Amino acid sequence: MSKDRQFDNFDEFAEDYCEMCNQVVKSSGANRDYFSEYKIVELLKFEKPKEELRILDFGCGDGSSAFFIRKHFPNAAVFGVDVSEKSITIAQKRNITNTIFNKFDGIKLPFKEEEFDIVFTSMVFHHIEHKLHKGVLKEICKVLKKEGRFYNFEHNPNNPLTKKAVNECEYDKDAVLLKPSYNKKITSNSGLKVEKLNYTLFFPRHKLFNFFLGLEKILTWCPIGAQYYVKAIKII
Ligand SMILES: C[S@@+](CC[C@H](N)C(=O)[O-])C[C@H]1O[C@@H](n2cnc3c(N)ncnc32)[C@H](O)[C@@H]1O
Repeated sequence: MSKDRQFDNFDEFAEDYCEMCNQVVKSSGANRDYFSEYKIVELLKFEKPKEELRILDFGCGDGSSAFFIRKHFPNAAVFGVDVSEKSITIAQKRNITNTIFNKFDGIKLPFKEEEFDIVFTSMVFHHIEHKLHKGVLKEICKVLKKEGRFYNFEHNPNNPLTKKAVNECEYDKDAVLLKPSYNKKITSNSGLKVEKLNYTLFFPRHKLFNFFLGLEKILTWCPIGAQYYVKAIKII
């Protein structure tokens, strides 16, 4: 990792990103779309999907999550930002209705205060230098409305299979995974009240394991899921 790394810009991976993801998750028995959609389905546990929400996908990449946000939140206005211009161009080419993608500098969000009901982010914070997390969270807090919700999905460094996959993945070569306790702490210190730390993805997605998938909803406390998310609410 270079000494002056701030964050990983995915321009060099943008075109092949989807295929690279598919390769990384292949052994799990599901594809990249499956893993993009499951996170949005998690949001449905807490949100009212028919409401006219304003939703920001922070570090939206090629727009894969935004596609599923649109699908499950049909009345929402969806926005995506990323530091990677090439990823943003690919996202824009998806022509997702009522969805706007913009490149930004990775530090200061190009929105006014209190514009969003929900800020969602997936697999982005481990691509940002840890000392910048505080500033990024402050920006996210700033653009959230009062009582707006923040969902931060991350890889779980406590899961050996996740760690192996990250270590072997080219676009994760500079990634530094966030311990769940650290993630919770930095979120709490940014004007956000942490309401949940939930673990996800305990079993492979091969048919053989279908029976066990139902157990995942009662295992959210168990700190060995392959991923986890922090849900927080803006209180100030
Ligand atoms: C592993 S990809 C995840 C993309 C997308 N969220 C997804 O789940 O498919 C990480 C993304 O974070 C973006 N990124 C890195 N630093 C960022 C920052 N400071 N602000 C916003 N996006 C950033 C990268 O350009 C890349 O598109």
